Amino acid sequence: MKPEELSKKLAGEKAVDYIEQDMLIGLGTGSTVFWTMQKLAERVKEGLRIQAVPTSTATEELARKLGIPLLTLEDVKELDLVIDGADEISAELDLIKGGGGALLREKLVALASKKRIIVADSGKLTEELGGFPLPIEIVRFGWEQTFSRVLQLGCQITLREAENTPFITDNGNYILDCKFDGITDPVGVHQQLKLLPGVIETGLFVQLADVVVVGFPDRFELLE
Ligand code: 5RP
Repeated sequence: MKPEELSKKLAGEKAVDYIEQDMLIGLGTGSTVFWTMQKLAERVKEGLRIQAVPTSTATEELARKLGIPLLTLEDVKELDLVIDGADEISAELDLIKGGGGALLREKLVALASKKRIIVADSGKLTEELGGFPLPIEIVRFGWEQTFSRVLQLGCQITLREAENTPFITDNGNYILDCKFDGITDPVGVHQQLKLLPGVIETGLFVQLADVVVVGFPDRFELLE
């Protein structure tokens, strides 16, 4: 296994230690949470009782395959915890998420959770957010207008594509990947974007991480 994958596996598996009997949990999306789900499925087979809200159809499908009991966000008032990945993590534990296009459901699930645990390989740590293009979810109707408005905020934008056609999120929307010259004020950037009609949600997760499990090829570290 490559060092990056080993790091993801270590971080993803470690986070399962936070899950206790009868908890209601959120399950994020991506290749690090993949490892969380593999380990969680083992625990479920051994008798751990949990129910999980998936943050994407990909996670839902994997959970079904692994035999992890599911429920929807509409079924619950609050979740005990969520385990999710990230694309960038700042020293303040602010995040850029949405590399997998699941940012809207991920944010809704994060906000519904009492504790938020982020799992990531050490390559995701950064001094300042913005090296990774910020994903924002926008409505398809009049998307070019929204594109132009976002452009005025001073970033370079790519409409996300999959197989040469626009990528469609689980909610039926488009994603703009917005490259800023560093994001020193994540709250300000998030707020400016959210004021634009057509923008549904941004991948900036500010002060939404309680614990970050950082994986290295041979160990993990906890940031809190
Ligand atoms: C999906 C996400 C993922 O959590 C993020 O892209 C990290 O994924 P990975 O663990 O595969 O690096 O935000 O929308």
